[in-house]
Amino acid sequence: MKGKVLLTGGAGFIGSHTCVELLNAGYDVVVVDNYANSSPEALRRVKELTGKDFPVYQADVCDRAAMEKLFSEQPIEAAIHFAGLKAVGESVEKPLEYYRNNLDSTLTLVETMRAHGARKLVFSSSATVYAAASQSEMTEDLPTGCINPYGWTKYMIEQILRDVAFAGKDWSVALLRYFNPVGAHESGRIGEDPNGIPNNLMPRVMQNALGIIPVLGVFGDDYPTPDGTCIRDYIHVVDLAKGHVAALKYLEGFTGCDAINLGTGTGYSVLDILNTFEQANGVKLRYEIQPRRAGDAAACYANPEKAKRLLRWQAEKTLADMCRDAWRWQQMNPRGYNA
Ligand code: NAD
Ligand code: WQD
Repeated sequence: MKGKVLLTGGAGFIGSHTCVELLNAGYDVVVVDNYANSSPEALRRVKELTGKDFPVYQADVCDRAAMEKLFSEQPIEAAIHFAGLKAVGESVEKPLEYYRNNLDSTLTLVETMRAHGARKLVFSSSATVYAAASQSEMTEDLPTGCINPYGWTKYMIEQILRDVAFAGKDWSVALLRYFNPVGAHESGRIGEDPNGIPNNLMPRVMQNALGIIPVLGVFGDDYPTPDGTCIRDYIHVVDLAKGHVAALKYLEGFTGCDAINLGTGTGYSVLDILNTFEQANGVKLRYEIQPRRAGDAAACYANPEKAKRLLRWQAEKTLADMCRDAWRWQQMNPRGYNA
């Protein structure tokens, strides 16, 4: 690729890990982030880990003038659009903030790309767009539909990008549907640093191991699964990051818009996670069975064949790797980036 790759939201959990993999693969990157849910320290550590410098713009992707300035200063050829708000529960409380931020940032980015001749775009979509599906193994052609405002923003953005690629035949767009990203870089220097009390399972497991959450709730043990707890497709964030490098390569020879799952293809239950975390790290968790959480599907995992076929990518790390790397990051950074 001759030009640079713009990472919107590049200071975040998945963006920072993708930054490392892109730099290691020889790409020139530019990051824009408003630090709504991240810290500049993450990018400082990305530079330290890779030994490479790159431009960082502190700006809101919805800010048209700021994006215009960035594109006029940097030769952007492709963008990976991570920037967005992602807390499902919060999106139910603050739907307008979610629709405004996630949709407006996408429209502003795509319009600025169009004005500056950049036509390759990777979008952070989510397995949450399959929420309406009745089966557990998700293939990309299943019908989509959502149950919360966060999910609807992903659904709507996917449609917007399909329409953009249909109207302008020179666009190359990958809609990457992530399953459940967990883990951290094996150096322990970068990882997930959620604001406030986390909702996702793995950060909560770690807070339980640290004693911050005294008793972890397992939400339901009466699902139609082998041990009764919900099954998800947990994917190591470094594998996920490598999937973005593969997607950018794929876009070099592709025009149109394609949805591609990034998952391992293997589902694990909540109890599998707790047991593996305890064994891999030699720690004891304290948990109890609690009522089901509203909106949870019994089981959801990727059919990863399309990514294998088109991107020549597949996840390699094990569940034990995910648990070990997440815990290393947490122990080395008990207060996240704000040490
Ligand atoms: P994150 O919150 O760690 O990263 C998002 C980044 O975007 C943050 O650094 C935040 O400060 C930034 N940001 C948000 N709005 C912005 C704006 N208007 N302008 C500039 N920067 C802005 O989240 P993540 O887990 O790294 O997720 C990245 C993307 O992947 C998100 O779009 C998310 O919806 C999607 N996704 C995440 C998961 C997951 O479980 N982590 C699963 C599926 C999809
Ligand atoms: C996993 C499992 C819970 C916490 C969410 C979003 C999805 C995507 C990924 C962005 C479930 C159970 C959890 C706890 C528990 N994000 N659980 N006790 O719900 O699969 O997906 O993150 O796109 O859109 O919805 O992930 O980590 O919240 O839950 O038992 O304290 O762990 O019931 O079965 P989920 P999660």
